[in-house]
Amino acid sequence: MFTTRFLDIPPLNGVAGTVRVPGSKSISNRALLLAGFASGTTVIEGLLHSDDTRVMLDALVQLGCRIEAEPDRLIVHGAGARPALRSATFFLGNAGTAMRPLTAALAIVAASTGASFELRGTPRMHERPIGDLVDALRALGCGVECFGREGYPPLRVSAGSGPLALAAPIRVRGDVSSQFLSALLLALPLRADAADAVIEVEGELISKPYVEITSKLLGAFGIDVERDGTQRFRLRGGQTLRSPGRFAVEGDASSASYFIAAAAIGAIEAPLRIEGIDSASIQGDIAFADAARAMGAQVESHSGWLDVRRGRWPLAAIDLDCNALPDAAMTLAALALFADGTSHLRNIASWRVKETDRLAAMARELRKVGATVEEGDDFLSITPPTIWRAASIATYDDHRMAMAMSLAAFNPLVGGGTSVPMRILDPRCVGKTWPDYFEALFTVATASREAIPVLAIDGPTASGKGTLASAVAAALGYRLLDSGAVYRAAAKAALDAGIDADDGRALADLAAALDLRFDADRCFLDGDDVSDTLRLEEVGAVASRISAWPMVRAALLDVQLAFRSVPGLVADGRDMGSVVFRDAELKVFLTAGPAERAERRYKQLISKGISANIDSLRADLESRDARDRNRSASPLVPAEGALMLDNSALSVEASVEAVLVAWQERRPFDRSPV
Ligand code: DC
Repeated sequence: MFTTRFLDIPPLNGVAGTVRVPGSKSISNRALLLAGFASGTTVIEGLLHSDDTRVMLDALVQLGCRIEAEPDRLIVHGAGARPALRSATFFLGNAGTAMRPLTAALAIVAASTGASFELRGTPRMHERPIGDLVDALRALGCGVECFGREGYPPLRVSAGSGPLALAAPIRVRGDVSSQFLSALLLALPLRADAADAVIEVEGELISKPYVEITSKLLGAFGIDVERDGTQRFRLRGGQTLRSPGRFAVEGDASSASYFIAAAAIGAIEAPLRIEGIDSASIQGDIAFADAARAMGAQVESHSGWLDVRRGRWPLAAIDLDCNALPDAAMTLAALALFADGTSHLRNIASWRVKETDRLAAMARELRKVGATVEEGDDFLSITPPTIWRAASIATYDDHRMAMAMSLAAFNPLVGGGTSVPMRILDPRCVGKTWPDYFEALFTVATASREAIPVLAIDGPTASGKGTLASAVAAALGYRLLDSGAVYRAAAKAALDAGIDADDGRALADLAAALDLRFDADRCFLDGDDVSDTLRLEEVGAVASRISAWPMVRAALLDVQLAFRSVPGLVADGRDMGSVVFRDAELKVFLTAGPAERAERRYKQLISKGISANIDSLRADLESRDARDRNRSASPLVPAEGALMLDNSALSVEASVEAVLVAWQERRPFDRSPV
């Protein structure tokens, strides 16, 4: 997961390969709730691991469920319909799929056991209405007290006035959120009373497909929901939640929408394969595939995956009532950027009470990239940009804002020389439903080499390049190339093979055939983790000698160039800015006095338990500097235009800050929001 303050996505020019979507949030949280209140043990496969399911899991643990996490499955030992817990406070973050059903379930439990529970969330959760559910629960006879604002969390549920009032239908409004109806349906099997329960929906039920998911899940846990259209539901008395033993969660259709959209825009040569979902999905957002088809995508459904590619281009503008697919409709808003005219997304008033006011947020952010947007009470009309702008996209702690707007990075595909990066602020918000969304995007998205930004940091040995480069890479969410490690690996291979540092030809052949792999901050040579050996002084000394051979440098060039991949690269070494990445957006030349550097190297070695002598270290590094500086091939010199940074008297943090400030100045984004 990217936990950086912002993430810059370079201009993308295609998608290819395979991506697997994580488990459905709506199904995962319903399955967890039902498994938690069922009797028996449920093995859940394909569960989503994200902020929202974490919140539900924590609540189940609090309730007294025993949970066993295994690599591919989760085992829930249900607490049954009468958990022993009598009083507790549940913190439910900003997870609507936890707050609503748990409010109903705990209210009904409290009504029969006399327990008292508090339910709280984030400040945004306390702005999201729950009054329609509270009204229905009170009419049913549950005790519900909103102790912030009436009709909003936080709230307390406790024993009500008497037995549940099931003689008359329970009435609930369905036009603000379908989750109120779903919550009642999920909770009513917990009632102690054996009478039938009838629910009548007032107003037009929105997001109908989610109620479909609720009834299917209840069916899996032994509860039959009789229904008359979408207005009247009956749960016969005497039914209790029973674990199905095993339950498989299908992939998330809303999450799939981002990749269906990416493929509609950028899968030009071959389809993008999206695993974990197909058209038989029980999730309403699978209808996004039809909407994408209507705009021009070619979508083929197989058993367990979709193959999606670009069809018509540019995409056809769309005019759609989005009531049935409120979440995936946000993806349509981003797709509309690539259409041949104005798209109209209608009946989306529910966007206003989601993670943020999505109508206002989407309008604002789409305008930033250059689109013309009309925002109505319950619709958006979107006309694609004539001129695209690099934009700092605010995400409002809303995962879907981040994921949908990331599609704007495919702007080079509109042609005409358009090519601007997109900055996603606070990318970690995707953790709500897909913590590794950006990683998934970056495995399938392609960009032209020159569009991928590089920040080069060069300097003499022990100047602190490595520390600086890795901190900068972490702050930007970029890949890191420690080119010294590449030369050191070649040196280690030469030492192992007994090749003389003066035999340039043999060294070059060896370098060209290196089996070298970098994984996170570890380096593997011929499959062995050699990261620690590479730091040895003798290896560094040989690296310095063999790196003077132009043939060796040429042989190691491709390994280094291959590091330049989406979203960007921080490269450290001697010639990153001057030779390997001449077009780097920022070049830094880092220096420090020899005494300072000798002391740093000394401390580094001592901390690793390696004995060292500070004077000989200083002599060593000065002679290595001289060799690196005086060699004819790629001598150690500051690249033209490099930012000269002497960090002798700077802390690591101050050096990092100086580089990040210089980086920001070179990026095309408005800097104020970061
Ligand atoms: O940065 P370092 O100490 O790990 O580098 C080891 C040697 O590799 C160094 O003495 C010079 C050589 N090197 C190089 O020639 N060019 C680079 N880009 C990086 C390192």
